[in-house]
Amino acid sequence: MFMTNNINVQELVKEAIVARERAYTPYSNFDVGAALLTVDGKIYHGCNIENAAYSPTNCAERTAFFSAVYAGERKFSAIAVAGWYSEESKNKENEMAFPCGVCRQVMMEFCNPETFQIIVTDSKGNLSINTLSQLLPHGFGPDNLY
Ligand code: THU
Repeated sequence: MFMTNNINVQELVKEAIVARERAYTPYSNFDVGAALLTVDGKIYHGCNIENAAYSPTNCAERTAFFSAVYAGERKFSAIAVAGWYSEESKNKENEMAFPCGVCRQVMMEFCNPETFQIIVTDSKGNLSINTLSQLLPHGFGPDNLY
């Protein structure tokens, strides 16, 4: 499935599911992978990385963003997110792991909220696709500071 802005949704979702395999989650066992698409068509991956002190934990989405920005990227068109428990029986039907508020704010820094697409998949492949402005209405971003 291609979206109007040429995003290959299935491919990006597949990449997020592969990225999820790298999750470091000894405390929650909730494994998340992300695949971030640049406007030039490159994909950067991320996984969640937990910590014994809990609060230093980094979400999959931010891992992908920080890795991409370090690589010199600044313009993004979409992110796919795949998150569920490693133990299959713990997962609830149709539950999707939407980006947390902190990750939405990081997206706000680098993405156009009206066009940036957030694609969330559950473990069965059901998708929810929203723009950043739908998930973070009235977001505060770089345009607010001048
Ligand atoms: N987590 C993510 O990586 N992304 C999300 O969208 C939601 C939550 C991680 C953080 C933590 O390692 C685990 O999921 C449980 O909160």
